[in-house]
Amino acid sequence: MVFLQTLFFLLLVTFGHSFPRHHHPFHSLLTDRAALLEFRKTIVSDPFSSLANWDEAVPVCNFTGVECDRSHNRVIRLILYDKGLVGLLSPVLSNLTGLHNLEIVRSHLFGIIPPEFSNLRRIHSIIIEGNNLHGSIPDSFSMLSKLNILVVKENNISGSLPPSLFSNCTLLNVVDFSSNSLSGQIPEEIGNCKILWSISLYNNQFTGHLPLSLTNLSLQHLDVEYNYLSGELPSKFVGSWPYLLYLHLSYNNMVSHDSNTNLDPFFTALKNNSNLEELELAGMGLGGRFTDTLPSQLTNLRTLLLQENQIFGSIPRSLANLSRLFILNLTSNLLNGTISSDIFTLPWLEQLFLSQNHFKSPLPEAIGKCLNLGLLDLSHNQFSGTIPDSLGNLVRLNSLFLNNNLLSGTIPPTLGRCSNLYRLDLSHNRLTGSIPLKLAGLREIRIFINISHNHLEGDLPIELSKLEKVQEIDLSSNYLTGSIFPQISGCIAVSMINFSNNLLQGEIPQSLGDLRNLESFDVSRNQLSGLIPAKLGKIETLTFLNLSFNNLEGKIPSGGIFNSVSNLSFLGNPKLCGKIEGVSLCSQRRRWIHARLLLIILILVIFVSTLLSIIFCVIGCKHLKVMISSQRTEARKNAARTELISNFPRITYKELSEATGGFDNQRLVGSGSYGHVYRGVLADGTPIAVKVLHLQSGNSTKSFNRECQVLKRIRHRNLIRIITACSLPDFKALVLPYMVNGSLECRLYPSSGSSDLSIVQRVNICSDIAEGMAYLHHHSPVRVIHCDLKPSNCLLNDDMTALVSDFGVARLLMSAGVGATDNMGNSSANLLFGSIGYIAPGNLCILQN
Ligand SMILES: *[C@@H]1O[C@H](CO)[C@@H](O)[C@H](O)[C@H]1NC(C)=O
Ligand SMILES: *[C@@H]1O[C@H](CO)[C@@H](O)[C@H](O)[C@H]1NC(C)=O
Ligand SMILES: *[C@@H]1O[C@H](CO)[C@@H](O)[C@H](O)[C@H]1NC(C)=O
Ligand SMILES: *[C@@H]1O[C@H](CO)[C@@H](O)[C@H](O)[C@H]1NC(C)=O
Ligand SMILES: *[C@@H]1O[C@H](CO)[C@@H](O)[C@H](O)[C@H]1NC(C)=O
Ligand SMILES: *[C@@H]1O[C@H](CO)[C@@H](O)[C@H](O)[C@H]1NC(C)=O
Ligand SMILES: *[C@@H]1O[C@H](CO)[C@@H](O)[C@H](O)[C@H]1NC(C)=O
Ligand SMILES: *[C@@H]1O[C@H](CO)[C@@H](O)[C@H](O)[C@H]1NC(C)=O
Ligand SMILES: *[C@@H]1O[C@H](CO)[C@@H](O)[C@H](O)[C@H]1NC(C)=O
Ligand SMILES: *[C@@H]1O[C@H](CO)[C@@H](O)[C@H](O)[C@H]1NC(C)=O
Ligand SMILES: *[C@@H]1O[C@H](CO)[C@@H](O)[C@H](O)[C@H]1NC(C)=O
Ligand SMILES: *[C@@H]1O[C@H](CO)[C@@H](O)[C@H](O)[C@H]1NC(C)=O
Repeated sequence: MVFLQTLFFLLLVTFGHSFPRHHHPFHSLLTDRAALLEFRKTIVSDPFSSLANWDEAVPVCNFTGVECDRSHNRVIRLILYDKGLVGLLSPVLSNLTGLHNLEIVRSHLFGIIPPEFSNLRRIHSIIIEGNNLHGSIPDSFSMLSKLNILVVKENNISGSLPPSLFSNCTLLNVVDFSSNSLSGQIPEEIGNCKILWSISLYNNQFTGHLPLSLTNLSLQHLDVEYNYLSGELPSKFVGSWPYLLYLHLSYNNMVSHDSNTNLDPFFTALKNNSNLEELELAGMGLGGRFTDTLPSQLTNLRTLLLQENQIFGSIPRSLANLSRLFILNLTSNLLNGTISSDIFTLPWLEQLFLSQNHFKSPLPEAIGKCLNLGLLDLSHNQFSGTIPDSLGNLVRLNSLFLNNNLLSGTIPPTLGRCSNLYRLDLSHNRLTGSIPLKLAGLREIRIFINISHNHLEGDLPIELSKLEKVQEIDLSSNYLTGSIFPQISGCIAVSMINFSNNLLQGEIPQSLGDLRNLESFDVSRNQLSGLIPAKLGKIETLTFLNLSFNNLEGKIPSGGIFNSVSNLSFLGNPKLCGKIEGVSLCSQRRRWIHARLLLIILILVIFVSTLLSIIFCVIGCKHLKVMISSQRTEARKNAARTELISNFPRITYKELSEATGGFDNQRLVGSGSYGHVYRGVLADGTPIAVKVLHLQSGNSTKSFNRECQVLKRIRHRNLIRIITACSLPDFKALVLPYMVNGSLECRLYPSSGSSDLSIVQRVNICSDIAEGMAYLHHHSPVRVIHCDLKPSNCLLNDDMTALVSDFGVARLLMSAGVGATDNMGNSSANLLFGSIGYIAPGNLCILQN
């Protein structure tokens, strides 16, 4: 009895309690739905259809980006990253009063931050970075007492930081207002936020001093770079931040102690900050001597940026105690003493910038001990003596800048061992001797080699032609002799060649015309002779040419670059003639001789051909007919070939990189073992998909060639068309039209629930694919077996037409005769070419048919 009573009581308690509560939350969920639908209405563009399922038919908790609490009473999270939404950050969102997280990141929301957001009393995090919001930060944010994280960076918020923002902030951990237009002082009240550990305010217009109250916080991360903050370096503060990891103060108006003459107090104060990883104090004109005061406790320091200051003295030995140091930047200071050899024992040092100082000493031999060094910039000093052989030990070195010094002696052949080098600048020194042949060991040089403005002599080494990847070669202003060898066309990636101001002789080789990426060619001030190769006019990329002050002769060719250059490209070549203003016209007499010669040839030709035709007639007309007909087919073939070239426009790596925002990960639309596919827009507005192949996988070049071969020959409504391709030694990409509706796979199995394809659409897609395959098998100029047909290889365009793509593993039946069809039936095992380790069921279906 007691038991039943208890049960009844319990039931009463449970229901009595939960009934009204249940009713109320349900009502709230309706409000939440109404608010979200209202928000959707203010969105004017949703490029990826991210909010497609935000409609009356779908439960609000199933909306993309929306999350409810466990009992589905309230919406607690609205999280939309990189959706490209355009529209107002609507105040209506403030009706989602149960919200814990509001994160709409990297879209194009505009308007102000609605003051009504102060209704979001349960909010933990507001992250609205990377939008187009303007206006000021509402005072009413003081009501958000549960806020942990507030990130508004990369908008255009102006005004000052309201002190009230920090009046109710006992739970605040992280504030980030970087890259806005905020101004005024950082309010003292910020010290109220007892557990605030990360402050990012970089790239604004804050003025005044750092607030003293910051000493009451335990900061790990302070980033106020690129503002107008003044005052002394915060030596009083750092002692109270034992957990400090990042201190970024660069590009403000701060000064060192004792009216900008003494760095020691600040450096000494850092001795308790043993966790510090990044110390950035660049671009402030900080004055003082660099001494042994950097505390040896900074054993975690990885980045030390002190460039663009007025620091003088030597590089102190104590730096060698910062054993984790990775980047040391002392560019543009007044350093004038010695470089302690000890710093070259730093085991992790990867980038060392000492450029634009007043160093005078010889280069220390000890540099060769810094085995992890990738970048060494000692340019624009007065370093003297020779280049140490030990540099050859730096096998990881990728960038070496020794230019603009007083270095003498020869270029050490050991440099050829730095096989990862891709930028080499030894220009503007006093180097002598010849260019060492071993330099051809530097085959990896991809970006540039510059040894201009030295005293180098000897012949232009033919080994240069082995630099297949180099983009810029500058050997100008030396005493180099010999000729430009035809093998120069081996530098297939080169875009700039400057051999000017040397003693080169001989002719300019025709093979230069094979350099398809050449943009600038300067051989002025040499002793070159002979004719100008007409093939130079065939290089479409060539925009700068200077052949001045040589002994070139003959007629300046026409076409390409020759139609746009002026006489400034041909100065000081008295034997040149042509139609360019300022260059002497090719003389009449010569023309007359030409004309007479032509006449004689013409008469001869007519005579001989008459004779021949008579002979032919005698021998037999049939032969002649055969010949004529074969000539016709040849002509047709030629026409087809030129059409092919004009159909597939040339595209450079640079254009592709620009079109895809530098192969930005945010543009990635797919990836696989073959490589990545990026979405992009060409300069003329064509939306494209760029398929970049991984070059590590051994088969990829083959696969690329195969796909090019297949794609360029076929044309069908249901097969993807190629716009063009880009093929460099270390970069291969196909440019395809961008398909708005993605792949069939994504439509069949979307990440958000079930597919929205109707039965009619499905049938249409099936028949599209079937038509595409039928064409491949029976009607295309080359017969092709796709071998990798699967939903992810079927793309959908804007009107939902299916197009089959990805011919990377296709098999061509080149000798498509009667036999080929038999072949298909008999040895299907031979034809199973699917991607390694995976053959979609689709393949089997096709082959069974
Ligand atoms: C937001 O809430 C207010 C007050 O509850 C209500 O009047 C208004 O209609 C709501 N707006 C929407 C779009 O739900
Ligand atoms: C909503 O989501 C739940 C759980 O994820 C699922 O069971 C349900 O079918 C979905 N409803 C709709 C209409 O998509
Ligand atoms: C702090 O937040 C609470 C809860 O939102 C609010 O009631 C109170 O008025 C706020 N205090 C100030 C000073 O804004
Ligand atoms: C940012 O706002 C300021 C005014 O507050 C305006 O002058 C400026 O043009 C805006 N910048 C951008 C990029 O919209
Ligand atoms: C630091 O906090 C203490 C105690 O809350 C307070 O008395 C003091 O004024 C604060 N210091 C600064 C500089 O804000
Ligand atoms: C470093 O920490 C010790 C003990 O925690 C403290 O006594 C000392 O004052 C601190 N030094 C500085 C420069 O803040
Ligand atoms: C480096 O650290 C060691 C041990 O902490 C210390 O004995 C030595 O003096 C330091 N060297 C310099 C140059 O500061
Ligand atoms: C080093 O400083 C120079 C000069 O300001 C700058 O160009 C370079 O980007 C800096 N490098 C790093 C890694 O900070
Ligand atoms: C370095 O420069 C400072 C300040 O200009 C000067 O006092 C000092 O004598 C110079 N040292 C050397 C070795 O030139
Ligand atoms: C050397 O040549 C490269 C490539 O043209 C160029 O980027 C670099 O600025 C040149 N160096 C100097 C010191 O002019
Ligand atoms: C080539 O080098 C010479 C001298 O070093 C220089 O005057 C000229 O501008 C350079 N040409 C190009 C195209 O950079
Ligand atoms: C080519 O070089 C010569 C000599 O250096 C110079 O006078 C002329 O202006 C240059 N021509 C062009 C087009 O830059």
